[in-house]
Amino acid sequence: MEPIKKIALITGGIGGIGTAICERLYKDGCVVIANYRDFTRAIKWREQAKNWRQNHLRLGIDVKIVEGDVSDFRSTSTMIKQIQDEMGVVNILVNNAGITRDAPLYKMKPQQWYEVINTNLHSVYNCTRLVIEGMIAQGWGRIINISSINGQKGQFGQTNYSAAKAGMHGFTMALAAEVAKKGITVNTISPGYIGTSMVMAVREEIRNQIISQIPIGRLGNPEEIARVVSFLVSEESSFITGSNISANGGQFMG
Ligand code: CAA
Repeated sequence: MEPIKKIALITGGIGGIGTAICERLYKDGCVVIANYRDFTRAIKWREQAKNWRQNHLRLGIDVKIVEGDVSDFRSTSTMIKQIQDEMGVVNILVNNAGITRDAPLYKMKPQQWYEVINTNLHSVYNCTRLVIEGMIAQGWGRIINISSINGQKGQFGQTNYSAAKAGMHGFTMALAAEVAKKGITVNTISPGYIGTSMVMAVREEIRNQIISQIPIGRLGNPEEIARVVSFLVSEESSFITGSNISANGGQFMG
């Protein structure tokens, strides 16, 4: 039997962690599709991707980019249809798109709440719902939800984000049970503080105080999260489902 072509969709694929995941899965031999919302940024990103270097060799990375607002079911549906028509069944889905709108609850506006819940949690339903039937029909799939340490422990100023990120893992566990017999695994990765623009946007003195709470003594690298994605995608990881893998430098060990 011919091996199944691995087609990976990474939502928020042009962001900090998303870019590293695209690169890693490309090197693993997958067809990689990066979803984006911002067209101008995505075109620039794609040009840069062609020139990424590794081991001093020029490595051209051919990543497809596809537009879609994953917080919106209709937009997601158009995007998935385009992918399935042009490339085939998405059998690896990395729900990675996420935003922050930090504020203590007493100052949080409804818009800050809804934007975060829509982008970080409703997107997980939208994307997964639209690819799950293809995976079931194929009898193979990998769904990986990129959550956060702050969904595990909570964080001052992040009731919206922590709620969405904790919700992602509830989704993981329920769906893992539903599709366990179909050759599909569903897992969560909970990164700690990673050196991306999202974390760098935190006020410097607060960020330094957070870093002082990380036993390893530094921020993580996006590649350290991409490595876990690659591990979960591999054939050898088929017994791992419904789990939540932390990668946080020891900041939370619950
Ligand atoms: N615990 C308890 N009290 C705290 C606190 C904490 N962690 N942080 C702040 N406070 C207190 C302050 O001491 C202050 O008290 P006083 O008024 O008595 O002096 C009060 O709360 C107000 O604090 P701020 O001045 O910080 O309030 P602000 O409105 O200016 O800022 C905030 C609020 C923007 C949420 C800011 O606190 C902040 O940036 N916090 C960090 C949020 C964070 O970690 N975001 C992560 C983004 S990256 C990410 O999310 C990726 C990932 O997955 C890890």
